Amino acid sequence: MGERQSVDYTAVAAEAVLRAGAIQKARYGQRIEVRHKGPVDLVTDVDRLCEDAILEILRARTPGFDIVTEETQLAKTGSRFCWYVDPLDGTTNYAHGYPCFNASVALAQDGVVVAGAVYEPLRAELFTAERGSGAHLNGRRLQVSSTTDLKNALMVTGFPYDIHEKTNDRLRYFNLFIRHARAIRRDGAAALDLSFVAAGRFDAFFEESLQPWDVLAGGLIVEEAGGRISDFAGGPIGLQGAQVLASNGRLHDAMLELLRADRPKP
Ligand code: IPD
Ligand code: CA
Ligand code: CA
Repeated sequence: MGERQSVDYTAVAAEAVLRAGAIQKARYGQRIEVRHKGPVDLVTDVDRLCEDAILEILRARTPGFDIVTEETQLAKTGSRFCWYVDPLDGTTNYAHGYPCFNASVALAQDGVVVAGAVYEPLRAELFTAERGSGAHLNGRRLQVSSTTDLKNALMVTGFPYDIHEKTNDRLRYFNLFIRHARAIRRDGAAALDLSFVAAGRFDAFFEESLQPWDVLAGGLIVEEAGGRISDFAGGPIGLQGAQVLASNGRLHDAMLELLRADRPKP
């Protein structure tokens, strides 16, 4: 255990996302191989290259830790430590040459996220957080926005890949919040959406059907920047990310109240 405590997990997460970001930047705008995982869900050779690079770093620095990563199902060993890896978050954007994507890595210890890093290579923005030690952007301490009214809020959301099959369901929360917010963006990279809430660029984020690798690093970055993260009923998101509401904290109760009032009555 002593040896493990000497490892700086946030630095390992940062090293991993920086390596992936370098690959993303080098290949951006060049010919890439695109495959369909589902009708609208893509994977590229860059997703795989980034995953290989991240796994190599995590395995070398923290041997024996479990790893959950988007593109490869790995056996769990029951370690108290588990890395969550999104090698390329924003694959659709990347495949279209839209400059909004990142790599995201989080570490959970005994089921609690303790470290996270998100890297956006085109602006060279590295978002990091360590539980209890704050969140940083390129080493500068982050603070969420001070917006207190939903009518002054710039929100961001995303839609899962089943949007064609469940269009009305998936638009439900967009329809709800658009009536109250100043505006809602849809940028296509959840880990970056959350990091931008931490940086005060967005005031709040909501999305359903996310995966742990989409949200755990960004969620910790939001919390450590003074924001709040919960499910749509105000409970903890745990390690799943099935429903994620993240905000500067000041807007959270008002958003939860809108969600409560919108819930179908039994
Ligand atoms: C997706 C992005 C997108 C979100 C989707 C995610 P991927 O991740 O984060 O913003 O709306 O739900 O699946 O597939 O690009 O890693
Ligand atoms: Ca993702
Ligand atoms: Ca991904």
